[in-house]
Amino acid sequence: MTPLLAARGVTVRYGSLAALDGVDLRIDHGQRHALIGPNGAGKTTLLGVLGGSIPAGGGRVLLAGRDVTRLGPAARARRGVGRIHQRPAVWSTLTAAENVVVAALPHAVRPGRWRPGGKRRAAERAAATLLARVGLPELADVPAGRLAHGQRRQLEIAVALAGRPRLLLLDEPAAGLSAVEVERLVEFLRELPRAVAVLLVEHRLDLVYALCDAVTVLRDGRTLATGTPAEIRASGPVRQAYAEGVT
Ligand SMILES: Nc1ncnc2c1ncn2[C@@H]1O[C@H](COP(=O)(O)OP(=O)(O)O)[C@@H](O)[C@H]1O
Ligand SMILES: [Mg+2]
Repeated sequence: MTPLLAARGVTVRYGSLAALDGVDLRIDHGQRHALIGPNGAGKTTLLGVLGGSIPAGGGRVLLAGRDVTRLGPAARARRGVGRIHQRPAVWSTLTAAENVVVAALPHAVRPGRWRPGGKRRAAERAAATLLARVGLPELADVPAGRLAHGQRRQLEIAVALAGRPRLLLLDEPAAGLSAVEVERLVEFLRELPRAVAVLLVEHRLDLVYALCDAVTVLRDGRTLATGTPAEIRASGPVRQAYAEGVT
């Protein structure tokens, strides 16, 4: 079957540094795929290439078999790629609900069923449901800029989901969250419908093993290994490479 996403030979150079050096990655429909590796391995750069914000210097990115290598972030988002950044990115002067409504609007009504005001009301209903799902129902009317870090993170996930992604790119979503918030995040990701595949960059291996069915290890811009969590856990060189860069 055609994978949901395939990256082939992806290369990104910053001057003489190869941040990515011929990376291959395959994500199947509905898969929970972890991307791990030491700091500077190229994880965030790879998410940028997959989301369209960083141009690939070489190689190709295919989404459901279609070449999207030259498409920017907005076009990728329309094709179903949602992204959570390492630092939460939301509109700080809009309320939490308004942030989600803006993202939900294009999907709020089916073609041919438009009526005045209906689209906005449908988007508002979708936003309320999503904010409740990520655990922020009581903060709908608070400007996003006044939310705490963990709450902004949850809001960013709601915003990404409002765009109806087929693939959600998550860059260290647990970073800076309290223990309770991490628990809620894990539960939330576990309950995500399988219509959404997830690529999760995460340092905490306990979260990776709890959530993911495939793991890819990056190091120095190259794929060191890819396999099931059990295979990766058993792989000596992988353990060693990972332990060198992560504490
Ligand atoms: N905009 C940039 N300009 C120059 N070097 C960069 C830039 N972004 C990332 N790098 C370098 O590319 C490498 C990979 O970075 P990154 O993808 O952020 O790694 P990771 O997310 O795995 O920690 C690092 O050596 C980093 O310093
Ligand atoms: Mg990073």
